Amino acid sequence: VTSPAPVVLIAEELAPSALEVLGDGFDVRHVDGADRSALLPALAEAHAVMIRSATTIDAEALAAAPLLEVVARAGIGLDNVDVAAATARGVMVVNAPTSNIVSAAEHAVALLLAAARRIPAADASLRAGTWKRSQFTGVEVTEKTVGVVGLGRIGVLVAQRLAAFGVTLIAYDPYIQPGRAQQLGVRMVGLDELLRESDFITVHLPKTPETLGLIGADELATTKRGVILVNAARGGLVDEAALADALRSGQVGAAGIDVYATEPCTDSPLFGLPNTVVTPHLGASTSEAQDKAGTAVARSVRLALQGDFVPDA
Ligand code: MLT
Repeated sequence: VTSPAPVVLIAEELAPSALEVLGDGFDVRHVDGADRSALLPALAEAHAVMIRSATTIDAEALAAAPLLEVVARAGIGLDNVDVAAATARGVMVVNAPTSNIVSAAEHAVALLLAAARRIPAADASLRAGTWKRSQFTGVEVTEKTVGVVGLGRIGVLVAQRLAAFGVTLIAYDPYIQPGRAQQLGVRMVGLDELLRESDFITVHLPKTPETLGLIGADELATTKRGVILVNAARGGLVDEAALADALRSGQVGAAGIDVYATEPCTDSPLFGLPNTVVTPHLGASTSEAQDKAGTAVARSVRLALQGDFVPDA
């Protein structure tokens, strides 16, 4: 008697290359992971579930998945997975921690430049049939101070790229190894000093109980007036309502935002403001990053379900 093929539940859109790497021998099923009423019953027969950031695998989802052996996060952030609960159940959690770091860093730089030069607003204005050069005066990046909050894999790539613009780089990261920052030409400072001294602030931290609400109304009140802020990390690290207030008052000059406290998000207070550049969580949305993330975790799922050793992705 041959046992039925293990069920791999794909709960979000993955690169086609991920399915190729997964190969034959699995019963591949699809579900919209953001729809809980569809996800929970679909998990009942799943041996593996493959997700991005829109699917939450919490204790409730795990309880609905008695056969589950692997949660595969085709990306980096594990804030949508209850790793402790999974581990306690013996469910392996795999991700692809370097797959989209370059894409995320490039997107943060794109948001920073777009915010500094008001590109989306100018684009919309010209498309609407108006030619308003004086309304879209921006600021240069060169010779300014850029504060990087979180000097991990992505923060480092952002710092290296912005160095080419001739900026002074400062960073806040309580966990960085001594010496590493110096090598990069980045001066490490406390968060207070970073907020006070930066002309541009870009956030590159995971979402944890420690980092949630890190930059709120009190912190925004201490920045240089007109600072430009970028968040392509996670919603909630910068308080959205406080940021909207600061953008309205001019305390924050402009913001480039890719992530929101609740996603999907179609009604943030940031969307109605003229000095924001907003994208719908696109940091990792490049063909290269999706390829790398999808294939890395597909390989891990295949090995895990075959009972083989799963090396780090
Ligand atoms: C990640 O953590 O990898 C990103 O948020 C990208 C994604 O949504 O997959």
